[in-house]
Amino acid sequence: MATESLRKDHDLIEKVVKAMEVTLQLLKSGKTIPESILMPTIDFTKNFTDVCHHGKEEESFFPALGQTGMPTNMGPIAVMLMEHEITRKIALHMEGSAKEYLSSGSADALISDISQYVDHMGQHLWKENNRLFMMAEMRLSGVSDKMNADLDAVEKKKLDQLGKSRADYENLVQNIQSEISKIN
Ligand SMILES: [Fe+2]
Ligand SMILES: [Fe+2]
Repeated sequence: MATESLRKDHDLIEKVVKAMEVTLQLLKSGKTIPESILMPTIDFTKNFTDVCHHGKEEESFFPALGQTGMPTNMGPIAVMLMEHEITRKIALHMEGSAKEYLSSGSADALISDISQYVDHMGQHLWKENNRLFMMAEMRLSGVSDKMNADLDAVEKKKLDQLGKSRADYENLVQNIQSEISKIN
């Protein structure tokens, strides 16, 4: 399947989005969320999602779809590119509001930013999983091994630049999940 590498990323991203939904409920009920949950969440959204995963889509996957004749400056790909920009902007706001929360204890901006992120990313992942990736699997079915090899090469390049490995981010996600389960 041509989107295998990207779907694997989505599974990991969905775990973080779920953890953010739990964080949101905890914040709304007045619980304190420690830095050990918030900062790894920001690291994941800025680096794994925005740099690595969106880098794979933008540098390798969308151009490959373009080569099959799908327009890249309009239609679904243009919408996805615009949504990546929105994701980056919300993540940037969320970093600011998380720092503000950690220093002042005021959760309002953080609650608003996490809620926007969860909604936006939930919709983005749904559109890719159920619309764009289905189209891509048909268009790229003859070249799926090459597609996944190219995606994995971009992943390695991006993670190398960050000084990280995939295992680092898989561990980070597990840590976030276990830290959250300790709050009650
Ligand atoms: Fe995307
Ligand atoms: Fe994606």
